Amino acid sequence: MLHMAWFVGQGYSVHGWQAPWSGRIDLEWMRPDIYLDLARALDRAGFDYIMLEDGLLMPDSYGGTPEWFLKNAWMVPKADPMALVPLIGQATTRIGIVATMTTSFTPPFTAARLGATLDHLTDGRFGFNIVTAHNERSAQNFGLDEHYEHDLRYEMADEWMDVVDALWSSWEDGAIVADADGGTFADVTKVHPIDHAGRFYKCRGPLNVAPGPQRRPVICQAGGSPAGRGFASRHADTILARYRDADAAKAFRDDIRARMAAHGRDPDDCKILYLMTATLAETDDLARARFAHQGEEVAANFEHKLAFMSYASGKDFSKLDLDAPLPEIRTNAAQASTKALTAGSGKTLREIASENASGGFDFVGSPDTVAAQMEETARAIGGDGFLISNPLTRHAVAEVADGLAPALARRGLLPAAMPARTLRQRLRAF
Ligand SMILES: Cc1cc2nc3c(=O)[nH]c(=O)nc-3n(C[C@H](O)[C@H](O)[C@H](O)COP(=O)(O)O)c2cc1C
Repeated sequence: MLHMAWFVGQGYSVHGWQAPWSGRIDLEWMRPDIYLDLARALDRAGFDYIMLEDGLLMPDSYGGTPEWFLKNAWMVPKADPMALVPLIGQATTRIGIVATMTTSFTPPFTAARLGATLDHLTDGRFGFNIVTAHNERSAQNFGLDEHYEHDLRYEMADEWMDVVDALWSSWEDGAIVADADGGTFADVTKVHPIDHAGRFYKCRGPLNVAPGPQRRPVICQAGGSPAGRGFASRHADTILARYRDADAAKAFRDDIRARMAAHGRDPDDCKILYLMTATLAETDDLARARFAHQGEEVAANFEHKLAFMSYASGKDFSKLDLDAPLPEIRTNAAQASTKALTAGSGKTLREIASENASGGFDFVGSPDTVAAQMEETARAIGGDGFLISNPLTRHAVAEVADGLAPALARRGLLPAAMPARTLRQRLRAF
């Protein structure tokens, strides 16, 4: 069986406002409806979770000004996805809701309190996607001139996670007695300060809210550099990874599982989901024609890909020679994503940017064909599932929830009934 999630890759923003089938997202982007429709459809379809991306900056790495990003409504405007979580929770009954939290600019106490609150409000279906925030501009919004160095960010994140975990453990099981007759709500002997004083953080505790149904909300992670893998293998319940071939994806999985075992963790306790797109149609020929048509559009709008590369790497791709082979890009920003987006040794920047490729697996065909391709790919990798990163429109959601998901279910790749109550139980059910 597969674990399935949907990547809301632009976060709480304006999704594909000029694309066909995007409705009136240009006027309605700030309303929660598109997310509620997505969540209800995926809940019905048997998906494990929705992942809401986030960032804390006005991007300007492409061309050195925010102009391109504002003009195209790409990665901006961006509202806080945490506010969507309880709304989605209210509209659904089973699906998990994961929203992005940065370790670099959020005090551990604030994050632990928010995580516990949202876990209560969703009845144990909440998760944090933990990022160190890769963009220099984010750092400048929080009092720094330059961002912390890449690997140092992960050292900070490690300690940050330990503090947050300690806060979530600061109430023992049974601390809430709720004994109205005896006159005691909570038992003071079961609630403890954490008294953390470390290299980067100091926090007394205890948390002033009891932990939610999962105690520790699900921890998701998506950094693929060696330091990112180190962090993920210590803390994550689920990892998002972007690879375009099964051998590289398998090598990543093997590496994470070995690292987890070295930390004394059961490798099956973390589910790795690989980013994919699905170009679907009634027949394989129609789907291929659609993919070819998309390819023409990508090539005609290759500037979009250049802006994405600039966003992930912090380097200004508008300044590079389009017709020279692309040199290796080194960055203090998102290393694994930059590598995936700029892959293509010997090709020119124009060729790479014109390629209709998400950097993950791009499956094309009828729902049954794509389901078969997914099964074969997951088998070659060894597990555990996929993260759909199709553009967010209701049309695309229906194709996946009502076309692809039933095809997966027919092959026995999605559970017939909800396997568990909380998101963590669900991820560990198989
Ligand atoms: C599927 C996926 C989703 C991601 N979502 C976010 C996000 O919401 N916010 C963010 O700042 N970075 C996001 N990233 C970037 C990574 O979380 C990570 O911060 C970045 O890749 C830097 O880590 P690395 O250098 O270890 O790869 C995402 C990456 C992937 C592959």
